[in-house]
Order: sequence, then structure tokens, then C-alpha cells
Amino acid sequence: MSKSAASLSKLFDAQCTKSVVGSEWSLHQIAPYIGKVKSSIAKFLIENFTKKGDVIYDPFCGAGTIPFEAWSSGRNVIANDLNDYAYVLTKAKLFPPSSFDEVYSQIEAMEPLVSEKITELNRGNIPEWVSAFFHDKTLLEVLAWVEILKANESWFLLSCLLGILHHQRPGFLSFPSSHTVPYLRVKKFPKEDFPELYEYRNVKDRLVKKVKRALKRSPNLNENLERTVYNEDASEQLFQTQIDAVITSPPYMRQLDYARDNRLRLWFLGVEDYRPLDATISPKELDFIDIISKCLNNWNDIIRPGGKCILFLGDNYSKKLNLTLPEILEDILVKKIGDFNLIFKHESIIPTNRRVRRNHVGNKSETVLVFQKD
Ligand SMILES: C[S@@+](CC[C@H](N)C(=O)[O-])C[C@H]1O[C@@H](n2cnc3c(N)ncnc32)[C@H](O)[C@@H]1O
Repeated sequence: MSKSAASLSKLFDAQCTKSVVGSEWSLHQIAPYIGKVKSSIAKFLIENFTKKGDVIYDPFCGAGTIPFEAWSSGRNVIANDLNDYAYVLTKAKLFPPSSFDEVYSQIEAMEPLVSEKITELNRGNIPEWVSAFFHDKTLLEVLAWVEILKANESWFLLSCLLGILHHQRPGFLSFPSSHTVPYLRVKKFPKEDFPELYEYRNVKDRLVKKVKRALKRSPNLNENLERTVYNEDASEQLFQTQIDAVITSPPYMRQLDYARDNRLRLWFLGVEDYRPLDATISPKELDFIDIISKCLNNWNDIIRPGGKCILFLGDNYSKKLNLTLPEILEDILVKKIGDFNLIFKHESIIPTNRRVRRNHVGNKSETVLVFQKD
């Protein structure tokens, strides 16, 4: 680390406040995901604390922001998330098509299969809360596309489809609804006043346009770098491979419900009831501390000497432990495990418009902690 802590802090704050709209890689916007790390922050951490050719592991990768920034900055990547939706998005980002033409010919080849699939689908198997979001004909088309894309492991196209699943704009597939979390907005846009928002929507045309948007701004990517994506419980993961750095933002002690908030997309991926998944991936305070303690111990075994453990955290406060989340993790790594030194710490205020969640403001600040192994 050649820059001083003070200059790194200044640079880090600049990444937190600068807008990435219109400048980040368009694959980052393939589909929404709550609690995403800003791509500029991911890039900052990767470029300042790791080097080209390193192996970076993100055990809680969510939408794959850190893995994609790591790969596009010349690093090898191991990514993991227990949420099936996060797994699909990360696969899409780490194995994107090389050109629009390549995807377009895949779409053309799949179209007849989709038409055939529609005739086989059983409308009775679709729960009412799901069908409430769509025109009947659109719904069957979406379902058929999802089935064919899953069968072909076409993660990029599947992510594009999930990215246009619900919203109120013309390029999306549902009746008027919010985008990140699925809520119908039929009161704001009643059918009598907005009949066009309740008409059938052709899936293929919208999918093609979405693909163009997703590929609009792409980096040069090195296909020879290693990329692996898992869909496992991070606290159970151990590899033979030595890791140069863990870079991750763990779930914030039940502040976000990663399954509930993605329930409609998860239903299409085969998760009929989001609740059991949330019990694990959106853990309450003490469960979270238990999970993260196991993780930190496991990471100690795989991070090479001199390697880094970089955590990007909300500043939740644990009343039970009388400590903030960064303090808890620092205590485990430096005092309990004992093989790590804290080499950089910086707290930044989250701008109001980036705070999450209905009905409460969420974290007011975020902290990055960088530990180096002896
Ligand atoms: C703060 S989010 C990560 C966001 C990510 N950095 C991004 O930019 O999208 C935390 C993630 O941890 C995942 N998660 C929670 N518990 C997990 C576990 N035990 N194993 C693996 N993933 C888990 C959640 O599904 C969620 O995607």
C-alpha cells in the first residue's frame, strides 16, 4: 500500500459521493439487487489493496459487483451467495456473451422452444400473488422463457429477463409495480386511467432491447482469468486454493430481507416460499455473529500470509454486545483469531438517497476495514 491512510480516506470518500450513473459498466445494471455495493467503491478497494493476477474471494457476492469489478481489473475471482437470484446475476456478470450478435442468435434459436413450452405449461400451478403482476399471456411467455433459459443455463439472458420482470415502464413485463422490491402500484396507476399499462407485453422484443442496454458499456475482459461461482452457505465454505484477498460486504444483521425483497424473481427461479431462505440469508443479530465468526475462522485458513481481508460494513449497533458491527469484527480478527492487523479503517456517511428500506432510514454510515494477515 503506497498511499498514506489520509490520502486513501480522501479518495475513498470521493468514490462514495461521486455518481456512477452513465459511467459504470452497464452489466452492473443488468437487474436490481438490494444492498448492492457501489461499483466505484468495489473498484477502489480492488485497485488499492490487491494486484493484477491475485485471487479474490467474495463469499457474500449479492449481485456480483465486487467479483465483476475484480475480473475486469485483471483479478481471478471466486464468488458465492446462498441466494439463488444473486447466484444467477453473478454467473451472468462473470460469463457474459462476447457480442450482441451472439446473444441474438441464441434468442432466435430458443424462440421455437419457448412457443412449444407455452403449450405445455399448467396455468393452475401459478399462485395468485404471482399472476396478479401480469397479463395472462405475458405471464405464460415469461414462464416459458425462464424454463428454457434455465434448462440451457443461459445465465446472462435469464438475468436480463429478471431485470425487466417488474416495473411500471414500457420496457418491463409486469403491470405497474416498483422495480427493486415487487409491489403493485395499481392505486397510483388504476386500470381505468392507464389501460395501456395492463395490456399484453411481448417478452422477446423487450428482452432484445434489455440485452442491448446490458452490453452498452463493457470493459475488455480477459477470458483466461479464473472465475468460479458457488451457491452455498459461506460459513461452510473452505477451499484448497490460497486466496490473496477476501473482499466482501456481509448481510447486515437483518436490516435487509434478501429473499423477501426478491420474492417474485425467486419464484420464477423455483423458490416457492422465500421465508426459509430468508431465515438463513437475512440473519438476526446473534445468528449473524455466529455465521460471521465461522467465516472469519475459515478465511484465516485460506488467506495466504500477507493477504487481505477487506470488509465493507453497515455500522449497525449490537445492543447485546454493546459494540458496533465493525468493532465486533475487528475484535474477532485482531484479538480472538490474532493473525490479522488492521491496516486501514474508514467510516463514510451514507447519503440520504442511498439509505435503504421503507419505514426506517437504515444505516447512517458505512465502514471499510482492511486487515492484513501476518
Ligand atoms: C450486503 S449483501 C452483498 C451485496 C453485494 N456486495 C452486491 O454488491 O450486490 C449480502 C449478501 O449475503 C448473502 N448471504 C447472506 N447469508 C449468506 C450465507 N450464509 N452464505 C452465503 N451468502 C449469504 C445475501 O444473499 C446477500 O446477497
